[in-house]
Amino acid sequence: MCGIIGYVGHRPAVPILLEGLKRLEYRGYDSAGIAFIQNKELHIIKTEGKISKLEEKVFSQDVLHAEIGIGHTRWATHGEPITKNAHPHKDRDGKIALVHNGIIENYKKLKDELLSDGYEFVSDTDTEVLVHLISREYKKTKDPLAAILRCLEAVEGAYAIGVIFLDRPNEIWACRHSSPLVVGLGVGENFVASDVPAFLPYTKDVIFLEDGEVAKIGKDVVEVYNSNKEKVDKDVVSIPWDITLAQKGGYKHFMIKEIMEQPRVIHDATAGRIDFNKMKVVLPQLDEYPLPDKIQIVACGTSYHAGFWGKYLIERLSRIPVEVDIASEFRYKDPIIHKNDWVFVISQSGETADTLAGLRLAKKRGAKVIGVCNVVGSSVARESTTVLYTQAGPEISVASTKAMCSQMVVLLLIAIYLAQRKDFSQREFFDQLLFSLKEVPQILRKELPNIRDRAKELAIKYSFARSFFFLGRGLFYPLALEGALKLKEISYIHAEGYAAGEMKHGPIALIDQNFPSFVIAPKDDLLQKIVANIKEIQARQGPVICLTNKDIPVPSTDRWEIPYLNSIMTSFFVLSATQLFAYEMADYLGKDVDQPRNLAKSVTVE
Ligand code: AGP
Repeated sequence: MCGIIGYVGHRPAVPILLEGLKRLEYRGYDSAGIAFIQNKELHIIKTEGKISKLEEKVFSQDVLHAEIGIGHTRWATHGEPITKNAHPHKDRDGKIALVHNGIIENYKKLKDELLSDGYEFVSDTDTEVLVHLISREYKKTKDPLAAILRCLEAVEGAYAIGVIFLDRPNEIWACRHSSPLVVGLGVGENFVASDVPAFLPYTKDVIFLEDGEVAKIGKDVVEVYNSNKEKVDKDVVSIPWDITLAQKGGYKHFMIKEIMEQPRVIHDATAGRIDFNKMKVVLPQLDEYPLPDKIQIVACGTSYHAGFWGKYLIERLSRIPVEVDIASEFRYKDPIIHKNDWVFVISQSGETADTLAGLRLAKKRGAKVIGVCNVVGSSVARESTTVLYTQAGPEISVASTKAMCSQMVVLLLIAIYLAQRKDFSQREFFDQLLFSLKEVPQILRKELPNIRDRAKELAIKYSFARSFFFLGRGLFYPLALEGALKLKEISYIHAEGYAAGEMKHGPIALIDQNFPSFVIAPKDDLLQKIVANIKEIQARQGPVICLTNKDIPVPSTDRWEIPYLNSIMTSFFVLSATQLFAYEMADYLGKDVDQPRNLAKSVTVE
């Protein structure tokens, strides 16, 4: 997720661009840049690091005569977060500058075509293909709308782009597909940005662009066109929020915003990794490695729970044995690692000290270390043998939600990848699995509001509790562990995740009418076993919240139905439900949801 801003008007553009980028820093902050037209020249200034570093670079130059420009704050997805990869990118004549938010899934194919056409690339980004394609078309027609539409016909993936042309110094061109873009309407000035906070101090009147629409933004006029080059009438909306609320997309906390982003996160985590023509998972980073005899997964906290969930899937689908260790244990246990082992190191931040120590130990013992990480250029990403980025975008809330969701998607893809490499004959099963993975985002997008409503009802009803059990079996046991962690880390109510079958070996001694159990019991082969566990609990007057699917007969004190696709994809609905239960409980109890006491977003110490 990156932040884009554009300005054209009667004020000096550069200060407005920098101010806007600072308000978009929550969307990404590993590098930044601006492009502006001043004295009939196109200038680009960019740098790695935060906006403050860009400001130092910019204000050391004469930049206050420009009245048009675009800016970008980056969350790297392709290419290290270094200056050459920062946006804006320019065409080879230096007459067009472009900023982009999103992922161009077929950029390698487009880049190869451009390279064979004699184009040279100065960055490792997917974005650079866009500015060369637009430039190639613009040279033919000098028509920016035609050039942009022609370029986008070739592109697959998600994008929101802003473009300025040196020979058109009074207009910004912008368009979107799957990534947000909003036009701000001022007096004698207009704005375009990824999100309203960028220009909210100047105007609350906005136009939201839809997929496939292209906007021509001038000082006094904004025109919107569709893909047939027809003008489109757009409604003007007045934004009721202040800046702080706007940075959370209108949500009360970053955590709820990030939970609600999960449908997009699932889509983005699969981007470019499923070939639907061959119905195959493509993870080229792994192709050169011989299949492992054993897999080791190392992580902490929520990332450990994702890895534990991945173990069940990788073993079930590929029959390759998987060991999962908490990193702080792994690093001191003198682990048994063979040269042909693959070690997956999972980390949202890529900076967790224990996880890094585990990575370095595994590498020292000769294993292939594959990072599953959300931050491009982080220590885990740089030190791994290779890395699979989870593409979840910046996760601001200390409690990890969308990052775990993205880690699960990547682990599912790894499981299918390994199984297909071992035996590509089970076509029908994997075809169904891959198609169902494609369906999850839209089902989740539709159902999240209902899941949240039920979470709120139950959180309020059970806010008396001082302790909870979270119980699950098989694939849902790791999710029970994660549900317990989420509840305790933000609501401060003690919660313990357990394998449901383990209750009778001691924990059930704790059950009474004041000790509720949250039981994950969706439709799957172990359903009857978990029904028996629920009955054991109810026989001791223990209240039971039962998370299940429609028409599944299960005993409970409070029944909670979530969507069903198949026993694997149900995991994403279970994850959202437990996250929302924890969120609504913490919010109801008035806790500091985004910054819980005693916690840090990245535990960079032992
Ligand atoms: C998750 O809600 C916690 N904040 C914490 O357990 C976190 O998952 C853990 O510290 C690992 O962080 P990482 O994924 O950045 O390595």
